Amino acid sequence: MNPTLLQLKNVGKRFGDHVVLSEINLEIAKGEVVCVIGPSGSGKSTLLRCINFIAPPEEGEVIFEGRSWKRFHSALNFIANRKYEAQLPKLRAEIGMVFQHFNVFPHMSAIENVMLGLTKVRGKNRNEAREIAERSLRQVGLGDKLDQYPEKLSGGQKQRVAIARALALNPKVMLFDEVTSALDPELVTGILDEMRRLASDGMTMVVVTHEMNFAFQVATRIVFMDAGRIVTIGTPDEIRNTTEPRARAFLSSILG
Ligand SMILES: Nc1ncnc2c1ncn2[C@@H]1O[C@H](COP(=O)(O)OP(=O)(O)OP(=O)(O)O)[C@@H](O)[C@H]1O
Ligand SMILES: [Mg+2]
Repeated sequence: MNPTLLQLKNVGKRFGDHVVLSEINLEIAKGEVVCVIGPSGSGKSTLLRCINFIAPPEEGEVIFEGRSWKRFHSALNFIANRKYEAQLPKLRAEIGMVFQHFNVFPHMSAIENVMLGLTKVRGKNRNEAREIAERSLRQVGLGDKLDQYPEKLSGGQKQRVAIARALALNPKVMLFDEVTSALDPELVTGILDEMRRLASDGMTMVVVTHEMNFAFQVATRIVFMDAGRIVTIGTPDEIRNTTEPRARAFLSSILG
């Protein structure tokens, strides 16, 4: 087994009084592909947002490469919390994320979209950034669309730009949140193939998806969530044959 890259320990997240995640414990080894499944509203997106600290958890800790990230509640820990906040941008830059609605900037060409993080986050000069961005776009099959604007790209191609943009920053883990859900069916396979390729290159990935064929084929483990909790975790075979009632019901609802 590879060393642990990422660990969530008793992670909890609330929005006001609404508890959205409770007692999340999950350990992800380097090179693993963990697929997260579960009903709408079960907390899957929030889990990813906790992992990359877009929505930092109130409870528990996230341990990334052996380093613990924990927010303290007491005012006495003001300085520790300030330190934590100050380090977050650096940590976020290690973690790539791709969303359902690709969020590419419409007023920038494909290559400019990918260059942005390289110049702003990584401090590369424009020449270096252009070189890396070009390589990254070629990797996802968009070598001939470098200067195209998003309005002239298909949904699948825009999603590839979003993937290239995340990959260009050389992240240690990639988070995918239902990245094929907004795509026309004929474009889904291409994006899933891209993700398969990344997985076989050894990228550590956490993938929220309804594509159960993908999950069963590519995941090292599948996490089933319901009502803000991890109900069960297992290998694809274990999840396929699970006897846990909620997971069974969910699987039969989407597998038919
Ligand atoms: N910013 C927010 N403020 C308040 N409540 C939120 C916020 N984000 C999410 N929630 C609530 O948290 C719960 C979990 O939402 P989340 O988006 O994580 O679910 P999900 O499993 O990703 O659902 P879906 O499959 O529909 O994408 C929901 O009840 C949602 O209303
Ligand atoms: Mg979601």
